[in-house]
Amino acid sequence: KMVAFAAIQGAYNIVSKAEGIYNRAVEQYGPEQKLEFPNTAYFLPIIYSLLGIPVKDLASAKRPLEIARKLLPPHVKNFNHLPYLGPLLDAGMSALFAEEIVEAIRYVDDPDFYLPSENVDIDKGKIWLGAADDTVMRKRGVEFVDGSAPGFAAIVGAAPNKEIAKEIAEEYQRRSLYVFMAANQSGTTFTEQLIEAGVQVGWGTRLVPFGPDISAAVFALGFANRAGMAFGGIEPGNYKAMLKYNKDRIFAFVNALGEVNAEWAANAAGCVNWGFPTIADTDIPEILPTGVCTYEHVVGDIPLDEICQKSVEVRGLKTIVTKVDIPLSYGAAFEGERIRKDDLFVEMGGGKTQCTELVEMTEMDEIEDNKITVVGPEIDDLGEKGGRLPLGILVKVAGRKMQPDFEPILERQIHHLVNYAQGVMHIGQRDIAWIRTGRPAVDKGFKIKHIGQILHDMFHKDFGNILDKVEVILYTKEEDVKKHTENARAVYKTRDERVESMTDESVEIYYSCTLCQSFAPSHVCVVSPERTGLCGAYNWFDCKASYEINPTGPNQPIEKGEVIDPVLGQWKGCNDFVFKASRQKITHYNFYSIVNDPMTTCGCCECIAAVLPACNGVMTVHRDYTGETPCGMKFTTLAGVMGGGQSSPGFVGHSKYNVIQRKFIAGDGGLLRMVWMPKSLKEELREQLIRRGEELGHPDLIDKICDETIAIDEAGVMEHLEKVGHPAVSMDPIV
Ligand code: SF4
Ligand code: NI
Ligand code: NI
Repeated sequence: KMVAFAAIQGAYNIVSKAEGIYNRAVEQYGPEQKLEFPNTAYFLPIIYSLLGIPVKDLASAKRPLEIARKLLPPHVKNFNHLPYLGPLLDAGMSALFAEEIVEAIRYVDDPDFYLPSENVDIDKGKIWLGAADDTVMRKRGVEFVDGSAPGFAAIVGAAPNKEIAKEIAEEYQRRSLYVFMAANQSGTTFTEQLIEAGVQVGWGTRLVPFGPDISAAVFALGFANRAGMAFGGIEPGNYKAMLKYNKDRIFAFVNALGEVNAEWAANAAGCVNWGFPTIADTDIPEILPTGVCTYEHVVGDIPLDEICQKSVEVRGLKTIVTKVDIPLSYGAAFEGERIRKDDLFVEMGGGKTQCTELVEMTEMDEIEDNKITVVGPEIDDLGEKGGRLPLGILVKVAGRKMQPDFEPILERQIHHLVNYAQGVMHIGQRDIAWIRTGRPAVDKGFKIKHIGQILHDMFHKDFGNILDKVEVILYTKEEDVKKHTENARAVYKTRDERVESMTDESVEIYYSCTLCQSFAPSHVCVVSPERTGLCGAYNWFDCKASYEINPTGPNQPIEKGEVIDPVLGQWKGCNDFVFKASRQKITHYNFYSIVNDPMTTCGCCECIAAVLPACNGVMTVHRDYTGETPCGMKFTTLAGVMGGGQSSPGFVGHSKYNVIQRKFIAGDGGLLRMVWMPKSLKEELREQLIRRGEELGHPDLIDKICDETIAIDEAGVMEHLEKVGHPAVSMDPIV
């Protein structure tokens, strides 16, 4: 019962300290001083999501701080008499509200304290990342949606030494969990221990250094709550739904390393509200009165070599360590590693040499399973210094259920599958692939043949129901790679022509995608040949293949049925499906319109288009563009307002590729309506925009589309349109 007392005492300390900091800040900056985390539409997310209060400045932070004070339970002397968990949970909650305000004030006091980036900058001594902006939150949130990240471990404090820190972190990485790091133990932090041990930290490797104080725990909980608002459509202020959502869907827990002080105890109590238990390595008495809890909320005295296993057990997490037969650790958390220049040992592709990948289906008797052949030099042949090699990867697959349509889907896996190997980096695809391997991986025994081993093992694991045999040939002699590349290019060309020539009219079956329902319960994508999924990850062929691979999965065939509106793109069969799959929330939508009942939008869309009435056209903005747009909202704001799975006339989420598909907002006038796009998106789509412009009789359309270097307000855009004679100017009124 000691710690229970400590938790309440800790909450008192935290709230009192926060009040002191707050009063000082008001005196110093005045109540109008802006208060915010960078680039987010969710204000201070714990306060916003649970209390519904949008804190925008010091003045509006006053109420949540008062609520924190009021929530503090009276000092209870005898915890055996605590009738229910309430007082402790409340104490924890007040601590978190107060800490969130303290961290926001830190952004004002010391604007350079946190690095606004996904990765640390060790050279500049910048290792704390603070609040993730919405771009990071969405990108990473999607991994929680598709299951590639099962949850997160919040580590507070520090391990006894850097070697143990590294072991714990890598154990979680192998399980694909995120590790969120906060607080220090007598001045030492887990983050610094990892850096000293040579481990790469940052969002890319799923080892996220939030901050050196316990108050940085709010960044982890705030991340979880923003995911709930962005992907789960939970309304700000609906604290019951939010906490339940976290308990049911976000598999997280806390590891307290080192002595648990009163403030840590308060935070641990706070986390219980989310259903996140704390597992500690020191002997702490139970934080909560026994007999009330359904499971162990706080477990102490766990030996460090068992803490990972014990933690996932306590939280009831099913994580699987992926086993591939290579001498390196392997898992999604190693995807974002970079190979440092000084570590680079061998490089294949990337402009200096050719690197080409191809997956080809063959007859069962033509290949031998698990046969991996390297034709040409291996890594050993490069000598002490390493160097460059050309590389041709040919994966031959066979299976009774295999189809040629699955080839590109399997081929696209090569990128992340190779990237998952610790110390190996893969960029690009097809004939512009690029693989870099560092010296540490080579020292552990990594060879070119292991690329083949990864592909064999993982293809069997992930696609076992369509594949029976996988054979891999790796060419490393220039003339062989050249021949392989010519052959591969001919195959790519045939495939692309097939995808591009497909029309919505040419098929009777579309496919649903409900993958995002695990986060946005009412969201349903319907994917047609000319409208790819709005996340950009699924086109019609992908959904078809995915259905055939997994007939009870998230992609189901939908018979279009009776045409309700051929221009706006509406079919009875689709409506019926959407009505059912959205649990009666959505009755119908149009595939080709932004103005009239557009498709629903969910938080992971690549772009969001918006009508610009004064310009008689539309604009679109992609996730990576963080600047202002002429509709008055940044991407994060648009996604925050639109991304909950509803249909919002005037706005629609879509993929980048969809912009140059022929049916893009065809019901409202099509691509000729496009009047503004961020420059980077224009460049990314340049070739195809030119081609589509030509098809529409406006070969110079791309140059007529305004971007942020010309104007970011409707009047400025309009001026530009008139100057260049943009086709939208003379079209029928859009609304
Ligand atoms: Fe989510 Fe739609 Fe993409 Fe499926 S197609 S993953 S539902 S956005
Ligand atoms: Ni096999
Ligand atoms: Ni989504």
